[in-house]
Amino acid sequence: AATLREAAEGQGVFVGTAVNDGRLNDSRYSGIASDEFNSVTAENVMKWETLQPSRGQFNYAGGDRLVDFAQQNDQQVWGHTLVWHSQLPSWVSNGGFNATQLNQIMVDHITDVAGRWAGDIAYWDVVNEAFNEDGTFRQSVFQTTIGQQYIANAFRAADAADPNAKLCINDYNIEGDNAKSDGMYALVQSLLSQGVPIDCVGIQSHLILDQIPGTMQQNMQRFADLGLEVVITELDIRMNTPSDATRLARQATQFGQVVGYCLAVDGCSGVTVWGISDADSWIPDVFPGQGAACLWDDNLNPKPAYDGVLTAL
Ligand code: XIL
Repeated sequence: AATLREAAEGQGVFVGTAVNDGRLNDSRYSGIASDEFNSVTAENVMKWETLQPSRGQFNYAGGDRLVDFAQQNDQQVWGHTLVWHSQLPSWVSNGGFNATQLNQIMVDHITDVAGRWAGDIAYWDVVNEAFNEDGTFRQSVFQTTIGQQYIANAFRAADAADPNAKLCINDYNIEGDNAKSDGMYALVQSLLSQGVPIDCVGIQSHLILDQIPGTMQQNMQRFADLGLEVVITELDIRMNTPSDATRLARQATQFGQVVGYCLAVDGCSGVTVWGISDADSWIPDVFPGQGAACLWDDNLNPKPAYDGVLTAL
């Protein structure tokens, strides 16, 4: 195959990227996004702080641009993300609302956003990063105010607003079999037993070179065995910078391995990488001294990791 999307189509999976709204007017950037991928995730413009910066004021311009881009290029849109503790405006996080009020605010947000794009979004990350590393629930404003029930409430509201979108829960550090993925596993079992409309588990996969969890494939399999789709939603593999040829070659192998896990797990429907080029990546901002985590380099030239993914698909 000549492109990632062509190769992925041949395997019956999708291959996606996070798209930075501010970069879409660079034709090399948007050309890669359209030629190489058949799924796009909004890197930021479908987050709460962008969509509803103050109560009742919705800003859909950036999200609409991505939906239009995807429709022009025959791509699916992965909606990211309805309920999350981060990039949440302070009118929500510090509003002093009681449980009933905050639940209504959350449901109203979901209803407006998922309803606005009903039919345009293939998958929603309904709840993002609900867990602590030890598998207990993160003490977000939603958890501390509404309680664990906020998760089921969010899925039910999303299903009502857009019955056709597949609804996912998404998190990081749940790639391997560990306390956090055990917490996720127990939650999704319980949601399924209550009849909550959940379709998929998103495994972010912000990975570190030479530290791909050895239990990743079997862990993905156990979620798939519950009858859910499993998706690698935010793949990148970071290293200390500057990079060098030896480590870039190992990175290529490891990207290929992770893609291979998805192909090996029946029920893994696709892989999304978190950004196109190393220059666009969130990694250097959040992990100082690390980077080189993507498939294209700072100049938008394909890296060995690009070939690693293409070959694996
Ligand atoms: C990151 C974006 O890439 C950055 O541009 C932004 O400043 C912060 O958020 N997990 C997620 C994503 O679910 O939304 C995050 O994206 C990366 C970690």
